[in-house]
Amino acid sequence: MKPRDPARTVSLRAAQTADRIAIGELLAANRLPVAEAGGAPIRFWVAELAGQVIGTIALESYADQGLLRSLCVDARVRGQGIGQALVETVETEAASAGIVRLVLLTETAERFFTDLGYDAVDRATVAGALRASPLFATLCPASAVCLGKTLHFHHAEPSP
Ligand SMILES: CC(C)(COP(=O)(O)OP(=O)(O)OC[C@H]1O[C@@H](n2cnc3c(N)ncnc32)[C@H](O)[C@@H]1OP(=O)(O)O)[C@@H](O)C(=O)NCCC(=O)NCCS
Repeated sequence: MKPRDPARTVSLRAAQTADRIAIGELLAANRLPVAEAGGAPIRFWVAELAGQVIGTIALESYADQGLLRSLCVDARVRGQGIGQALVETVETEAASAGIVRLVLLTETAERFFTDLGYDAVDRATVAGALRASPLFATLCPASAVCLGKTLHFHHAEPSP
């Protein structure tokens, strides 16, 4: 995949309470479920351009397994590496929080994720608590593909 540097114009940051409406609007505009996390810890990140939220992604944590969800980039700024940068942010944050494997469901972006190293997962092998999450219950197996990726945490090398 071609390297890109969206950081020149787009900033990625942890979402704040004030972002909630913008995140909800972005998800709704892209017909993504705004389902609750069912009690599991959930964190959102946003991509911001000129003070506007133009992308979002979330991570639901189930012990050492994570559910990557709610990835969405405003249609006007797609194809610039923002989606990829959001996924990389979640992978880094998840790994540093002790999550060893990410799982996701998608009806629209299978190829996007397989390009980023995600492989097909048999839902039956997904940890019970994650499989019982509202998102898994909402999206029917017939239409959504389940993908997963094992994370490798890289420790920073000490400086010489
Ligand atoms: C999927 C999505 C987040 C990608 O965002 P983006 O900012 O356009 O992604 P990037 O620019 O980082 O794309 C990286 C690569 O994936 C490709 N790609 C992007 N969206 C894709 C999709 N839906 N299917 C297949 N490939 C896709 C791009 O062409 C690009 O390939 P390239 O580097 O070879 O040119 C965006 O298309 C979107 O919001 N879609 C609607 C919501 C959605 O489907 N979310 C996923 C739910 S799990």
